Amino acid sequence: MPLVPMKQILDEAVKGGYGVGAYNVNNMEQIQGIMKAASETRSPVILQASRGALAYTNMYYIKYMVQAAVEDNPGIPISLHLDHGNSFETCKQAIGLGFTSVMIDGSLKEDAKTPTNFEENVEVTKKVVDYAHKFGVSVEGELGTLGGIEDGVGSGKVKLTDPDEAVKFIKLTGVDALALAIGTSHGAYKFKAKPELAMDIINAVQAKIPGMPLVMHGSSSVPPELIEIINKYGGNLKKTMGVPMESIKEAIKRGIRKINVDTDGRLAITGAIRKYLYDNPSAFDPRTYFGEAREAVYRTVKEKMEGFSTAGHAGEYECMTLEDMKKYYE
Ligand code: G3H
Ligand code: 13P
Ligand code: ZN
Repeated sequence: MPLVPMKQILDEAVKGGYGVGAYNVNNMEQIQGIMKAASETRSPVILQASRGALAYTNMYYIKYMVQAAVEDNPGIPISLHLDHGNSFETCKQAIGLGFTSVMIDGSLKEDAKTPTNFEENVEVTKKVVDYAHKFGVSVEGELGTLGGIEDGVGSGKVKLTDPDEAVKFIKLTGVDALALAIGTSHGAYKFKAKPELAMDIINAVQAKIPGMPLVMHGSSSVPPELIEIINKYGGNLKKTMGVPMESIKEAIKRGIRKINVDTDGRLAITGAIRKYLYDNPSAFDPRTYFGEAREAVYRTVKEKMEGFSTAGHAGEYECMTLEDMKKYYE
């Protein structure tokens, strides 16, 4: 089956009451590791590429590597999503490339650093929605700002989402999914102790717009064992805490349907490569340590698919094409 519009994957997750991981990808091994986990657990999956990933892969490589995943896994619904699009132009470029979903992060200006006001966010998001829906492409918006700065994305300031504004935003823009700021942040250094997330925001939005797919960014758990492996084999990462699986499960119960994960994949890869090269100082065939990295991504993602209850849901529904979705929006 071709790439699936993200709206369908999330709408099915709403019906089934589960969450779908959206995993950031930049290279073949990450994609293969995620797809091995998806295929083994029979999980629908969202592969997402940031602007950094588009630049790193020169765009065409990401498109065709994901196409390879589609052809290699005919029974698994896969969406290709632009993560943190910073402008109408970036979203348009991703749509032109064949992405079936885009995020316009209108919570920040085009520099991806300066917070916008509500009206500015509505304006750019609505423009992207009007354009994307003509092609059947789904749109994720963001209201409120996350803490933390990951490779230039983020203002470093936190502004939790106001639920009443969120409801207004969804109605004014027509987004298919909305990212809420509930206290998480991007990157490895999220919390010093077990976090208290603003879970009530999820319920407040769900109460007003039941079934609206909501998105949680900054959802990596930063497992201590991955930090330990990295540090044991020559790394130097500080003590930190991520979002525990139990908090993610709680968020899913309340209405989070898309769970963004990048950092845990990075940690898994780094730990595996450090360990392999330490244990095998004479190795120089990249397939050996990239192969270990791929397996580490597979293990990390498989655990998430099981934890988010995504496992077992592939093959449950007939997948829509962009053409079908185009008609739906008309
Ligand atoms: O939200 C940010 C993601 O972790 C993407 O990071 O821009 O380094 O690819 P990146
Ligand atoms: P993490 O840094 O927690 O993996 O979050 C990734 C993310 O939100 C990508 O949009
Ligand atoms: Zn994010």
